[in-house]
Amino acid sequence: MPISDSKVTLSFSDGTPSLKFPIYKGTIGPDVIDIQNFYKISGKFTYDPGFMSTASCNSAITYIDGNIGELLYRGYPIEQLATKCNFMEICYLLLYGELPNKMQNDKFIQAIAEHTMVDKKIFAFLNGFSRNAHPMAILTSLVSALPTFYEDSLYIHDPYYREISAIRIIAKLPTLIAMIYKFNLGQPFIYPSNNLKYCDNFIYMMFSNLHKKYKTNKIITKALDRILILHADHEQNASTSTVRLVGSSGANPFSCIAAGIACLWGPLHGGANEAVLNMLKKIDKTENISKFIKKIKNKSSNIKLMGFGHRIYKNYDPRAKIIRNICYKVLNELDLLNKSLFKLATKLEKIALEDDYFVSRKLYPNVDFYSGIIQQALGIPVSMFTCIFAMARSAGWVAQWNEMISDPNKKIGRPRQLFVGSKKRSINCK
Ligand code: CMC
Repeated sequence: MPISDSKVTLSFSDGTPSLKFPIYKGTIGPDVIDIQNFYKISGKFTYDPGFMSTASCNSAITYIDGNIGELLYRGYPIEQLATKCNFMEICYLLLYGELPNKMQNDKFIQAIAEHTMVDKKIFAFLNGFSRNAHPMAILTSLVSALPTFYEDSLYIHDPYYREISAIRIIAKLPTLIAMIYKFNLGQPFIYPSNNLKYCDNFIYMMFSNLHKKYKTNKIITKALDRILILHADHEQNASTSTVRLVGSSGANPFSCIAAGIACLWGPLHGGANEAVLNMLKKIDKTENISKFIKKIKNKSSNIKLMGFGHRIYKNYDPRAKIIRNICYKVLNELDLLNKSLFKLATKLEKIALEDDYFVSRKLYPNVDFYSGIIQQALGIPVSMFTCIFAMARSAGWVAQWNEMISDPNKKIGRPRQLFVGSKKRSINCK
C-alpha cells in the first residue's frame, strides 16, 4: 500500500507520550490512518461503533464517493455499466477485475449454466419448512446446507476450488430462489433450462408451470438484469462485512454467503425494498402523506421513511436515479403506470425532498425506494424482493470473499470493546 509522506501525531492530555502513525493513500478516496499497532503502543483501544470512520480492509473492487453520489465497479461508473453491460459481464468484472472479451464471456456463461442444478436432497430440507415461511429465512438455511453437498468448498486456500464455489453460488441462487417461490405456492418445481440466459432462466423457473412454459418478455428480463447490475456490489456494507468477518475465520464460502443473506434480510439493509412496498400500501393515497411524514418526525414512533437515507450517500444514491428511470419506463411499457404505486412514491419523494427534516439530515431516496415497485410490476411477489437482492449481491459477496482470502495480510476479524459491566466480584455465599 502506498504510504503518504505525512504521518499523524496523536497527543494525550494525561502525560502519555505522543504517538506517530503512518497514513496510507488509496487510488482514490480518503487516506487512512494505520492504527493496527495503536493498542500495542498506547494500551488504549479506539472506539467506532457502526464503523463510521474505520476501514476494515483494502479492496480493489468497488468504490463509492458518497458526497458526489458516485459508484464505480472496478473503476467503471454504474451509469455506464447499467446501460452497456449485462449481469453476467458484471459478475465476471467483479470476480476477475476486467470486463470479459467474447471468448471469456461465453466460457463464463457456460460455466454458470452448467452449475444451475441443485442436489435433489435439497427438497428434503425445503419440505421441512412451514409453507408460509419467509423466503429469506428459507434461503439462508438452504445456502447453509450447500457445503454438505460440496465438500471441496472447504479447500478455501486453493484458487481452483474458490473459483468453482464462486460459480456455484452465482449459478445456484436463482434455482434455490425459484424453488422457494414454488414451495411457498405449493406448486411443482420447474428445473433450470440451461440454454436460457441467466435472467430468462430465472423467470422461466419462477413463472412456468407443468402445463405452460412461460414465454420470456424482453422488457421484463432486461429490467431484471439491470436491477441485478445495480445491486451487485456496494463495497463494505453490512452484509458484505458479515461475509468477510465470517470468512476471516476460514469458514467455507457457502456459510459466509448464508451469513450475508441473513444480514441482508434486515429492514435497514436489503429488507428495505419489501418494507417500502408495505409502507406505500399503508399510506395508500397521496392525501395521507403529510400525516405519515408527521409520524416519522415524532422520534418516539420509531417509524422511518423506508427507502430513504444511506450511511455513505449524502447527496444522492446514483442507483436510485437509474432505477427510478427504469421503473418509469417499465411501468409505461407494461401499461401499469396508473395501476402501480409509482405515482404515490414520486409524490412522497417530492414532499420529503422539500421537507427540512430530510433535507437537513441529507436523506435522499436510496436504491430500494423504487426497486420494489419495479419488481412488483415484473410479477415478483413482495416477500421475494430481498431474495432478488441476494441473487444480485451474491456476485459481490463472492468477489469480496475471494479478495479477502487471497490477501496475504488477512487476519481473523476480532473487534475490541469498551467494557461497561460489573468489575470483578465474588458470589456472597450465605
Ligand atoms: N427516515 C427518517 N429518518 C431517518 C431515516 C429515514 N429513512 N434515515 C435516517 N434518519 C435520521 C435518523 O433518525 C437520524 O436522525 P437524528 O440525527 O435526529 O437522530 C439521522 O437521520 C441520521 O441517521 P442515522 O440512522 O444515524 O444514519 P445511518 O447512516 O446510521 O443509517 C440507514 C443509514 C440506511 C440505516 C438509515 O438511513 C435508514 O434506516 N434508512 C431506512 C432504511 C433503508 O431504506 N435502508 C436501505 C439502505 S440502501 C440499500 C442497502 O444498501 O441495503
